[in-house]
Amino acid sequence: MSQETWSAVDDFIVETIAPDDEALSAAVDAALAAELPAIQVSPPQGKLLNLLARTIGARTILEFGTLGGYSTIQLARALPADGHLVSLEFSPEYTEVARASIERAGLGERVEVRVGPALESLPGLAEEGFGPIDFTFIDADKVNTPNYFSWALERSRPGALIVADNVVRDGTLADGGDPDPATKAQRQFHEMVAEEPRVSATTIQTVGSKGHDGFTLALVQA
Ligand code: SAH
Ligand code: DHB
Ligand code: MG
Repeated sequence: MSQETWSAVDDFIVETIAPDDEALSAAVDAALAAELPAIQVSPPQGKLLNLLARTIGARTILEFGTLGGYSTIQLARALPADGHLVSLEFSPEYTEVARASIERAGLGERVEVRVGPALESLPGLAEEGFGPIDFTFIDADKVNTPNYFSWALERSRPGALIVADNVVRDGTLADGGDPDPATKAQRQFHEMVAEEPRVSATTIQTVGSKGHDGFTLALVQA
């Protein structure tokens, strides 16, 4: 099996059941035009996020890592009219691109993008009493995945779902000797989840246009 095959299958899935509509295509185009890195979730993965958020009836969503707003749009579309999504993004430039795409998608009222290192935005959110959270998508700086998980878990309602992206990274997750801090953080994240009685979790490996990677899904116990 090769990257070529994985991408061809993703293409087929996109052509059949998970196409980008106008607003999603426009978000990808705007990100490309502004020279953002093309590291957003793939269309089938974005659709998965949308389906998961709808499945649990999410009304309050927290996202770590906005980039150009592609996953943000897929998640915000799962919200009811009075739902709310806060997305945390380090880069002011990316935030500007994302806000325009979110607005174009008609989701400006439901979505707030906060600029700065996510760890520095969290105290403000806590002070405002953000939550209880129904759905969290962790997709920012990978070394902080365990920290974002801990924060989100404390503010999640029973039945909430926490999803983390890029936990497998070409299989590096299985290599205990990998010195990369991002890999170490994903391994530590798994150990932390394993010892956390408040969640029931799994990790699903994925292949597709983004190569070999994976998501962790953690359901907060009722
Ligand atoms: N969720 C997006 C992709 C996010 S890519 C999508 O699928 O469409 C990862 C993002 O995390 C980048 O935009 C990067 O700027 C941001 N990021 C990196 N470090 C961060 C930090 N400390 N706090 C918040 N965002 C961060
Ligand atoms: C990369 C991919 C991602 O999904 C992400 O969130 C950050 C970086 C990458 O391929 O480098
Ligand atoms: Mg990612």
